Amino acid sequence: MKFFIDTANLDQIKEAQSLGILDGVTTNPSLMAKEGITGQENILQHYVDICNIVDGDVSAEVISTDFEGMVREGEALAALHDQIVIKLPMIKDGVKACKYFSSKGIKTNVTLVFSAGQALLAAKAGATYVSPFIGRLDDISTDGLHLISEIRHIYDNYGFDTEILAASVRHTMHVIDCAKIGADVMTGPLSSIVGLLKHPLTDSGLAQFLADYQKGN
Ligand code: G3P
Repeated sequence: MKFFIDTANLDQIKEAQSLGILDGVTTNPSLMAKEGITGQENILQHYVDICNIVDGDVSAEVISTDFEGMVREGEALAALHDQIVIKLPMIKDGVKACKYFSSKGIKTNVTLVFSAGQALLAAKAGATYVSPFIGRLDDISTDGLHLISEIRHIYDNYGFDTEILAASVRHTMHVIDCAKIGADVMTGPLSSIVGLLKHPLTDSGLAQFLADYQKGN
């Protein structure tokens, strides 16, 4: 299972990278705005800065909603760095743009996916990644993890190569449940990754080992 961090915060990306278990980064316009990154030039530079920190794929989202605009923006983003993955919204022109980029061998991530049918379309269009938003489904009393199971089942039926990137992950149990279901990738905040470390028996056990060592020395 790949671990991506879902943020545009460079310190958090560096911290996750330093653990040695980070496989990539996802961003979106809201995450960029949260870090105060505005203006086309700054946003493009920020993507390059992120690519220079991590080794894996970095999703960069287009803001156009028409095919021509998505192609223009996507090509500019792809030219920035070979780690860039073009993130496209799950709308009609997004599907067309996904097919366009996948035919050219450019990696894509189809985002804002909330149904199995949308995930099927993304796979048919050759998406590298499909991003079902599980937290946002949970927010409206709909089982986000069930959607991951449905997509896993459908993709396995036909051997689609598209990787299921569980997005809008909010906490450690989302990560563990996605791993049980067989999501290929999860993207979440730093807290959902480092939270996996925590267990009180590890802390008390280590404290005891260190105390016993001190007694003998
Ligand atoms: O990866 C998608 C993500 O950025 C959305 O997360 O927590 O805003 O639903 P959230």
